Amino acid sequence: MDEIATITIDGKSYNFETFVGTEGERCIDIQHLRDVTGCITLDPGFGSTGSCLSNITFVDGANGILRYRGYPIEELAERASFVEVAYLILYGELPNRTQLLNFRNQIRVHAPIHTNLEHHFSGLPHTAPPMAILSAMLNLVSCFHPEVLEVPTTGEEFGQTASLLLSKVRTVAAFAYRTASGKPINQPNPNLTYCGNFLHMMFSDPYVEYKVSPIIDKAINLFLILHADHEQNCSTTTVRVVGSSRANLFSSVAAGVSALMGPLHGGANVAVIEMLQDIKRSGKPLQYYIDRAKDKKDEFRLMGFGHRVYKNFDPRARILKKHVDEVLGALNLKDELLDIAKELEEHTLKDQYFIERNLYPNVDFYSGLLLRVIGIPLNMYTVLFAIGRMPGWISHWKEMHDHQQRISRPRQIYTGPILRHFQQISDRL
Ligand code: COA
Repeated sequence: MDEIATITIDGKSYNFETFVGTEGERCIDIQHLRDVTGCITLDPGFGSTGSCLSNITFVDGANGILRYRGYPIEELAERASFVEVAYLILYGELPNRTQLLNFRNQIRVHAPIHTNLEHHFSGLPHTAPPMAILSAMLNLVSCFHPEVLEVPTTGEEFGQTASLLLSKVRTVAAFAYRTASGKPINQPNPNLTYCGNFLHMMFSDPYVEYKVSPIIDKAINLFLILHADHEQNCSTTTVRVVGSSRANLFSSVAAGVSALMGPLHGGANVAVIEMLQDIKRSGKPLQYYIDRAKDKKDEFRLMGFGHRVYKNFDPRARILKKHVDEVLGALNLKDELLDIAKELEEHTLKDQYFIERNLYPNVDFYSGLLLRVIGIPLNMYTVLFAIGRMPGWISHWKEMHDHQQRISRPRQIYTGPILRHFQQISDRL
């Protein structure tokens, strides 16, 4: 039987039910706390707050475990395709052969975008950041598909909406890159894989068709799998919060893209490379940067280090570190930034500041290096994260609806001026 938690306020005790998840995680159900005690909890950043029950992803930060629908990330990264993992996250089970073929086909047919939407790209300046374009265009896509503005009521409708979004995000992302580079857009090629088609739309030129290398295709596939979901992170929570007002899926994920942009979240993969480039350019010893990161008066932080949940190691960082080495070997390349990154990791693992605070390389530390090695331009790193995270965002939006979650509306403790009365400006002069 679940335990009862007792809270005592002003000498009066109140009982609250507790709940244990399938992996043994415990919570105190305080949904009625305010009604019965008049108090609320205060938890800025939500470090001790569960916002929902979810069947999608399990993260155990102490032991470096990440599972999608029960499957370990290591097994999926090694053996699955991104489309297979997307299906798993969306539907809860791995697809059989027919289901996978149908799903792939649904994604394939949705790849082109409406010509009128395409025209919007030509009106954008070349300096427009692809993440800003992506967020805006995802909202616009829904204008061309009014059928997706409703909450899907059948599995078939949900499948159509989800595959449309998974497909359009890839096309829009590639078109955003072409626009930002001042290059003509490439139409999707239905004969290519999910990742191969993205690479083709990004890199083919009118006279030279991009030959998709299996090594690069695999690297992108791995990157997308590792980013496919991560439970209640900032952007996914944003998607759920926006969706809780019954905003449509496209507006909700567009908000997710905006949340992902910041350097403390998805933008960290760019910030890591910029930091490593700075270190290389400056020629200063690594200790100089480590000391700055430890100095509380200095705003500088080691990008790609630390995580709200992982307090031992981030399993995604381990997989990526190994894969960057494999890709470099297979392509017969060397990357000086990778050497600096590894050295930085070694230094911090021995440093008391980082040990005490459990600060280890996170997914963004090595993911940027992988993308760099396979030739993805820096301004597309976070966009690729967004493509990868799409199955997670869609599933959380759907789950939030299935669970009929109330509109998100936290409370606050007001600390501003107490009641005062308005005076005419003449009285104030
Ligand atoms: N470099 C130096 N110090 C760091 C640090 C970093 N990258 N990350 C955290 N810290 C320190 C904080 O200053 C704080 O120290 P204090 O206890 O002496 O005040 C302590 O570690 C806890 O950090 P905090 O910011 O409270 O943790 P958080 O859970 O709120 O934030 C991150 C988590 C990921 C936002 C944070 O670690 C960070 O900014 N990392 C760099 C950005 C990044 O890589 N983001 C990608 C996340 S996947």
